[in-house]
Amino acid sequence: MTARILDGIKIRDEMFAELKGEVTQMTAQGIRPGLAAVLVGENPASQLYVKSKIAACEQLGLASWLHSPPANVTTEYMLQLVADLNNDDNVDGILVQLPLPSQVDSKRVLEAVFPAKDVDGFHPVSMGMLVSNRPGLVACTPAGCMEILRRNNINMEGANAVVLGRSDIVGKPMALLLLHANATVTICHSKSRDLPEITRRADILVAAIGRAGFVQADWIKAGASVIDVGTNKVTDATEANRLLANFPQRLEKFRAKGSVLIGDVHPDAVNTAGALTPVPGGVGPMTITMLMSNTVKAARLRRLYGRSQPAFVAR
Ligand code: GUN
Repeated sequence: MTARILDGIKIRDEMFAELKGEVTQMTAQGIRPGLAAVLVGENPASQLYVKSKIAACEQLGLASWLHSPPANVTTEYMLQLVADLNNDDNVDGILVQLPLPSQVDSKRVLEAVFPAKDVDGFHPVSMGMLVSNRPGLVACTPAGCMEILRRNNINMEGANAVVLGRSDIVGKPMALLLLHANATVTICHSKSRDLPEITRRADILVAAIGRAGFVQADWIKAGASVIDVGTNKVTDATEANRLLANFPQRLEKFRAKGSVLIGDVHPDAVNTAGALTPVPGGVGPMTITMLMSNTVKAARLRRLYGRSQPAFVAR
């Protein structure tokens, strides 16, 4: 039997419709939520991400501002820019697109963002709030994975959840969110021993390691729910042939285009998992959706609980 496909595009569309209603209501009350994006330099991938984020704002009726300092920007300049955005009452969310150039102290810049405007959830205060299960803004990709699980009625309570990857942006917050949903959580990383043995116990498996097709189909328990966070661009024909041997149509597309997006989970997992997020079209669309959701939430809560309060209610 093939896995149920956990469609991120469908959930994005649902959530966009919900958010649009919320934004319309707020706008009628004279509140227009706004996102300020900071894009340093000319990294093509970052440019594409930020463009999509601004487009999403426009689609939902949010205000947006793009600041694009040059690649040789200093840490001091970035700190001043963030301070200006913190003090701008029209700005509800501040997004500093990563990675920043090596001469910029990224940690200092991220720490300068007011937690109440930290729509990426990367500030240590936001992370601390999550650790202690207090309300706050949560990193977009793991928050999106949770929406996928919830909206597909996948049981988390008492489930064995295994998270592959321990990054600050995905693995760690994901593990905490699952823990707060009462799952029994195991975090694995590059030094973990006997990975297949651990993943085979997972009722819920989240793969966020950035290696194409790393999780083999037989590492997955029959019927498990698998969330594949990876989006790896494969350009090598031998690798594409190995990963897509059972998917002639996708292989055909690879041959025409010269590249294909592959998750961290081997495509053959569709035959072992019970439910699976596709790549593309699974977790990917949820990241921007949660950024929009966080911006609307920040706009609402900043007005309720004060303009620079780090903490506020309701996750
Ligand atoms: N770079 C890669 N992913 C992200 C993200 O989610 N937020 C920001 N700000 N930068 C990123």
